[in-house]
Amino acid sequence: MTEIAWWKRGIVYQIYPRSFQDSNNDGIGDLEGVRQRLDYLVWLGVDAIWLSPIFVSPMADFGYDVADYRAIDPIFGTLEDFDDLLADVHKRGLKLILDFVPNHTSVVHPWFLDSRASRDNAKRDWYIWRDPAPDGGPPNNWLSNFGGPAWTLDGASGQYYYHAFLSQQPDLNWRNLAVRDAMYDILRFWLDRGVDGFRVDVIWHLIKDDAFRDNPPNPAYDSKQAEINRYLQVHSADQADVHDVVAEMRNVIDTYPDRVLIGEIYLPLERLVTYYGNGLAGAHLPFNFQLIHTAWNAREIASLIHDYEIALPEGGWPNWVLGNHDQPRIGARVGQDQARLAAMLLLTLRGTPTLYYGDEIGLNKIEIAPELVQDPWEKNEPGLGLGRDPERTPMQWDSSHYAGFSKVEPWLPLGLSSSSCNVAALREIPRSILNLYRRLVDVRRKHLALSVGDYAQLAVSSAQVLAYEREFGADRHVVVLNFGHCDCEVALPQTESPRCILLSTCLDRDGEPIGRILKLRPHEGVIVAYG
Ligand code: GLC
Repeated sequence: MTEIAWWKRGIVYQIYPRSFQDSNNDGIGDLEGVRQRLDYLVWLGVDAIWLSPIFVSPMADFGYDVADYRAIDPIFGTLEDFDDLLADVHKRGLKLILDFVPNHTSVVHPWFLDSRASRDNAKRDWYIWRDPAPDGGPPNNWLSNFGGPAWTLDGASGQYYYHAFLSQQPDLNWRNLAVRDAMYDILRFWLDRGVDGFRVDVIWHLIKDDAFRDNPPNPAYDSKQAEINRYLQVHSADQADVHDVVAEMRNVIDTYPDRVLIGEIYLPLERLVTYYGNGLAGAHLPFNFQLIHTAWNAREIASLIHDYEIALPEGGWPNWVLGNHDQPRIGARVGQDQARLAAMLLLTLRGTPTLYYGDEIGLNKIEIAPELVQDPWEKNEPGLGLGRDPERTPMQWDSSHYAGFSKVEPWLPLGLSSSSCNVAALREIPRSILNLYRRLVDVRRKHLALSVGDYAQLAVSSAQVLAYEREFGADRHVVVLNFGHCDCEVALPQTESPRCILLSTCLDRDGEPIGRILKLRPHEGVIVAYG
């Protein structure tokens, strides 16, 4: 077991630090709060924590606009708090992964202040400056991911700077080698402190077309979509040379033992898998977000798993994600019953699962009143359902006034059901989704077939049922998931060995012996053990 890297056999848990635990009662979560909740994560059984950005930031994009990569924002604490947290994480046998945001800085980062100071400043070329188009408008048609043009005119120097996101997030020029060196030094700064790896923000954006050609129109665009979809992002991201940068980052990581490089990549499968790099010298785990965007039914998911397994390069390690701080929660997308099935799917597929905080207590749709909106994307493009606040609301710990998250009003509202939907209450209910997550984590940890074993889809899969086998040496399990709203019966493959239910999503069939025919209730998933 120990020769399999921790990031292959383990489970990652994403924390959005503003919303996990507030320890100083300012309504915003912090590092000391995370430290206070580590025992919960040990109880849940996860292996690694990924923290969304905690660095000094004016918070235009809630920390994804970094003004100092080597210091902790006072909202979250101090460098000393960070060191204390890291020590406690390690003491409990957990790992800590930081969020590295290299594509852009904050507009108030000293590098950008220098860069914008004059056209001949030594840091001018650290960012992407272009002359206006002949009509005085932006240099090309590239759009911001948060709506509107991706270029902002700097009146003083008469040039535009490029920002793939907010105008407060100017893109660095990764073709400039001094930028790369400065960024790799930052990686070393945190690696030397002992962090176990990085999730790299929008890694596929780092290099842009060097001729800055216009993006082609997207024929499938309609005005109900985010404006970024007006054009296909052919020239503004996913350029061939980006793989050199990813390989360089990997080199830095590899000079330290046992660290992980995860890349945030929203691309179709065939493009996504290129980020493993030539000879697997790229990201260890290019995040696989396909479950977020695939229609939630047995057939689509079966073919997604099949296509992904086929697309993976030899030796490339798979990974799966159900949600994150940018995507509607799984409970909101598929409903509470199917959210339990989704948990079983995530935790029984081949590859590293990443859990998103709060999914384990079934947080789902939380309406944010217009006057409470925080997300800059929702503010820029209101009414299209793009807002990311609903998936960033505070963790619900107990039934006290602010759900044990804080003693004052939190920065985002709690879910309506916080008096019952909270860790303390759900821990006491044997069949709660929280206890289901914990059991799934536990069985995955105990059975190598479920974490690192081979995957094979079973022929009995149908429009309603997805069934697959996981196998590692003599250890063999079958997972059967009913995506439908009615009962069903599945004929399991013939076998000599006796079979019984190891775990059902309903948590009430442990040890039940199974013959050839397995009966499932609506929305039910089961793990069947052999022998
Ligand atoms: C990533 C982050 C998202 C952020 C964006 C710009 O997609 O996950 O939260 O807004 O990058 O940094």
